Amino acid sequence: MTQFSDSELTAAVMRSFEETPSARVKFLMEELVRSLHDFVRKTDLTFDEWGYAIDFLTRVGQKCSASRQEFILLSDVLGVSMLVDAINHRDRQGATETTVLGPFYVGEHRPMPHGTDISANIPGERMFVQSRVTDLNGKPLQGVPVDIWHADDDGYYDSQKPDYESQGPSSRGRFITDADGRFFFRTILPRSYPIPTDGPVGEMILQTRRHPMRPAHVHFLVNAPGYEPLVTHVFIEGDKYLDSDVVFGVKNDLVSRVEKRTDASMPDGKPAEAPWYLMRYEFRLKPGTGAAPRPMMAATEGASA
Ligand code: BEZ
Ligand code: FE
Repeated sequence: MTQFSDSELTAAVMRSFEETPSARVKFLMEELVRSLHDFVRKTDLTFDEWGYAIDFLTRVGQKCSASRQEFILLSDVLGVSMLVDAINHRDRQGATETTVLGPFYVGEHRPMPHGTDISANIPGERMFVQSRVTDLNGKPLQGVPVDIWHADDDGYYDSQKPDYESQGPSSRGRFITDADGRFFFRTILPRSYPIPTDGPVGEMILQTRRHPMRPAHVHFLVNAPGYEPLVTHVFIEGDKYLDSDVVFGVKNDLVSRVEKRTDASMPDGKPAEAPWYLMRYEFRLKPGTGAAPRPMMAATEGASA
């Protein structure tokens, strides 16, 4: 009979993975167990604390549904999502920086004509977005679909609202770049907003005296054949949460000076009611391949099939 010791326990669990057919799965399992055992040893974890962790993770799972992924939210607020993003996008070579996809991407939409107001019936300060997609040398990329989504003036995404199915999308759309790589649209100035706090992740945020806010931003997913899909946000300069984003998603290059304008017309010559805001941003894509991320709901369905 073997005499128990806690370091022998770790070695025994390592040996239990010896027959794993995939070398990568074996490596991941060994490293996961090593880190978990180290954590338990380093912290002298008590039964109560272990029980609390089990209950917490159980509640995270129970909060998940077809339209909500509390585990991704947990990964986001612990900085894991940004770390995975960072190590998979190490060498940008001048390409636009990436950030988290977030839970409110619902998939593609029918392309809209340039200039469309994607927040036509939504209250808020009006904003014109002028943008362009190029390669790393500044060559315009034509015919590229760009998906856009952002929160409204109250800090909610359309898909969070109970009438989303009947009302359809708002503050969300798809544009296709023209021969000069350009696209433009109208919308409202987004606001900073809290991530959902009515679940165990929110409880953890509040108990650790963190705030739940994300600084105001517009999400962009730029997906051109022959280039790495670009998942990013453009943040609004001056937002008070830029330095303390609850999901650690802000990068300096993604902060845009959104100008307050009083001109009587917007850049496409159509009349404007002053004041309005102008956001300009140019996206640079890196050559590559890789599928664009799937919306959270589709990913959940795929996983259970
Ligand atoms: C978002 O920006 O939509 C988001 C990202 C991570 C967690 C929650 C929301
Ligand atoms: Fe967002």
